[in-house]
Amino acid sequence: MKREIKVLVLALAVTFTACSKSNSGTDSGGITTPTTPTNPVTPTATLQSSMPFPFGAAVNISLLKNNTAYRALVIKEYNSLTAESVMKTAALHPAQNTYDFTDADYLCDFAKTNGKRVHGHTLIWYKSLPAWITNFQGDAAAWENLLKTHIQTIVAHFKGKVVSWDVVNEAFEDDGTLRNSIWLQKLGPDYIARCYTYAHEADPDALLFYNDYGHEYGPTKRAAILSMVNGLVSRGIPINGIGMQMHTRYNLGDSNWATAINACAATGLKVHISELDIAMNPNNDQTLTYTAALSEAQTQKYKLIVQDYNAIPKAQQFGITTWNVSDADSWIPGNYNRPDWPLPFDFNYARKPCYQGILDGVK
Ligand code: G3I
Repeated sequence: MKREIKVLVLALAVTFTACSKSNSGTDSGGITTPTTPTNPVTPTATLQSSMPFPFGAAVNISLLKNNTAYRALVIKEYNSLTAESVMKTAALHPAQNTYDFTDADYLCDFAKTNGKRVHGHTLIWYKSLPAWITNFQGDAAAWENLLKTHIQTIVAHFKGKVVSWDVVNEAFEDDGTLRNSIWLQKLGPDYIARCYTYAHEADPDALLFYNDYGHEYGPTKRAAILSMVNGLVSRGIPINGIGMQMHTRYNLGDSNWATAINACAATGLKVHISELDIAMNPNNDQTLTYTAALSEAQTQKYKLIVQDYNAIPKAQQFGITTWNVSDADSWIPGNYNRPDWPLPFDFNYARKPCYQGILDGVK
C-alpha cells in the first residue's frame, strides 16, 4: 500500500512538472511566466478559424459604424460579409441617373482592411425597388436598357471588391410559378437568363448566384428553382451557384435540410447557405421565453444544418452566412412582431450554446 502511494505521488509530480513546462514561458529566476493554454478548443477559436469553409454574416452598416461590440464581433468571428440592405436597389440606385455607393463602399473598405470576402446582395429583386423603377414608363427596349444599365453599372463599380453576386433574388412564388414581379411583367420570363449574361459581361471573374428561400420546406418550389437553374446551365448561361437562404425554423423534420442541400448540390454548382437563421417561435407566441430546452433544440438544429452542408463536395462549398449577427439585430422579431432568438449570439453579443452546435457540425 505504502509503495502504491509513493508511485502515485511520483506520477503526480512528473505530470505536474510536464504540464508546467508545456504551459509556461521561459523560467527566469525560478518564476514561470504563464502562456496560452494548449487546449484543442482554445478560447481564441472563432467561426472563421474553426470552419472548413467561409463563414459569414449579413451586416447592418449603421451597427458596423456605431456599435463597437458589433463591429468587434464581426471582425473576430467572420471571414465573409453580405450587406443586409445597402447593396439593394433602393440603396444603390435611388434615381435613374443617380447611384449612391457610399455605404456599400464603406463595407468593401471595412472588408478589405479586415481581410474579409464580400458577397453582393442583390441586383434584381421584386422588393427594395425605388419609385423611379416602379413608375418607369418605356417600351421593351427601354426596360431592357434599364435592366442592363442597372446591373452593369453596379457590378462594374464593385469589380475586384465583390467576389460574388446574388444576381436574381426570389424570382419564384412558393407554388413554383414565376413571381409576377415588375421584371417578369416588363421583360418576360427569360429576363432571368439575361441578368446573368449582363452581370458576367461587367465582371467575368464574379461568381453569379441565384438566391431564394424555402428549398427546405417542400419539393414544389425547390423543383422549380432547380429546373430553372439547370436550364440556364444547359444553355451556357453564366451561373455559378445557388443561394439557399435558409430562413428556417427549429421544428422542421430533420431530413428536410439534407434533402434540400443535396438537391442543390446535385446541380454541380456552388451552394451558399446565404441567409441562415433558425426561428424558435414560428407560432408567433407573444409570451414565449427562450428556455434551456429551446436552446438545446436550436443547438442540435444548427449542428445538423452545418453537418449536412459539410457533407457536400468541398469544391461546391461557397460558405454559410447567417442573416445578421445576434438576436438583437435579427429581422425576424420586427418583421413578425414577436419575440424570437434565431441567431448564434445573444442580445449582449455573447455566444449562445448553438454557437457550439455550429462548431460541432464540422467535427
Ligand atoms: O433605412 C431605413 C431607415 O432610414 C428608416 O428610418 C427605417 C424605418 O422603417 O427603415 C429603414 O429601412 C429598413 C431597412 O431594412 C434597413 O434597416 C426598411 O424599412 C426595411 O424594410 C428593411 O428590411 C430589410 C428587408 O430585407 C427588405 O429590404 C431587412 O432588414 C432585411 O433583413 C431583409 O432581408 C431579406 C433579404 O434581403 C432577402 N431574403 C429575405 C430577407 C429577410 O426578409
